[in-house]
Amino acid sequence: MKILVVGSGGREHALAWKLAQSDKVQMVYVAPGNGGTARDVRLQNVAITELDALADFVEKEHIALTVVGPEVPLAAGIVNLFRARGLKIFGPTREAAQLESSKDFAKAFMQRHGIPTAKYQTFTEAAAAHAYVDANGAPIVIKADGLAAGKGVVVAMTLEEAHAAVDHMLADNKFGDAGARIVIEEFLAGEEASFIVMVDGKHVLPLATSQDHKRLQDQDQGPNTGGMGAYSPAPIITPSLHARVMREIINPTVQGMAKDGIVFTGFLYAGLMIDAQGNPRTLEFNCRMGDPETQPIMSRLKSDLVTVMEHAVNGTLDQVELDWDRRTAVGVVMAAAGYPDDPKKGDRIDGIPADTPECVSFHAGTKIDANGALVTSGGRVLCVVGLGDSVRMAQKQAYETVDKIHFDGMQFRRDIGWRGLKH
Ligand code: AMP
Ligand code: GLY
Repeated sequence: MKILVVGSGGREHALAWKLAQSDKVQMVYVAPGNGGTARDVRLQNVAITELDALADFVEKEHIALTVVGPEVPLAAGIVNLFRARGLKIFGPTREAAQLESSKDFAKAFMQRHGIPTAKYQTFTEAAAAHAYVDANGAPIVIKADGLAAGKGVVVAMTLEEAHAAVDHMLADNKFGDAGARIVIEEFLAGEEASFIVMVDGKHVLPLATSQDHKRLQDQDQGPNTGGMGAYSPAPIITPSLHARVMREIINPTVQGMAKDGIVFTGFLYAGLMIDAQGNPRTLEFNCRMGDPETQPIMSRLKSDLVTVMEHAVNGTLDQVELDWDRRTAVGVVMAAAGYPDDPKKGDRIDGIPADTPECVSFHAGTKIDANGALVTSGGRVLCVVGLGDSVRMAQKQAYETVDKIHFDGMQFRRDIGWRGLKH
């Protein structure tokens, strides 16, 4: 059968790579894809991004199933559109995607359903927001309500930073409509983890756990990014904590959405903060897979992803048991010069070795230029995933490959997986 993956990042390369391994698959189209998906066997890029045109393509090519990577087409209603045209697609509807596309929606939802999260209030007026900041003190967290490509959150350690963030978002209108409304919430201390599940409307199938590294530099220094690396599994999620997250966060979320009249289908990603006592709270929901978490997670998945996706769109995920590689996977993101503010494009990428059973190089911001050369075309360029029997051995595999790759001004962290070494 033929499958379509929507998106162009490292997450989409990893999903397409895994789907293409299935015996059931003839071709996986990636729209619009990147330099890696352009080259892999059984993957083919299609230069379409407009939603109606994607649905036309799926009909014309008799594509059996569509999997959506990024949040933007989900929030724009790609699932509503495809379903209305009778096409099978895995993802949340526009209404369900509000869990990610509106922080205010997500916070009100969690409060209404008793799902543990930071205390908050929503503002549209700067004066009231400033007064709330003064009343609560720092540290405090300021979030743009809408989608802001990971740039809409300011963790303010001082009152000055907090007031500046309020002005930046509300008064200067820096995020446009996405920032016309802001959420101000309590600062939570602890360790973060990514808890991602698949939902078919009724049943929940948890994927392997993972941890992302949001800061640009080693030891979690420097600015926040979309993610500089991830590893799986995350040992902080012990079996008992796993059960608690399912009971206190994931199941109440899926059931709460249904109670509110919005059936959730798709990947559901709870960004967790686990405090020193081991209590999990929800920092945010994403209604898609994480990037770069997908790259190490897919590298560990042994089950046939196409079969899993078929169950997901048919409402039978309760019949699936996932089989995972017991090894640890460490994914190191190699980012362009100037990332995250102003990534440089067009630099030639050299030295990517052939994939092995221990190491896979997923592409993100890459493309093949007019001369057939592989060049950078976005902030996060590659994600190199190493597999090993320990975090250390997986790191060794990943960094041996990273050290063979070159492009001008490349930036990457040397310590991906460091929290896993502590446990
Ligand atoms: P979000 O997009 O909501 O996940 O926020 C991006 C990042 O900001 C998170 O991964 C955390 O590192 C940080 N963050 C968000 N909310 C809080 C909070 N309430 N307390 C502490 N850190 C936070
Ligand atoms: N890695 C964080 C995210 O995908 O939102």
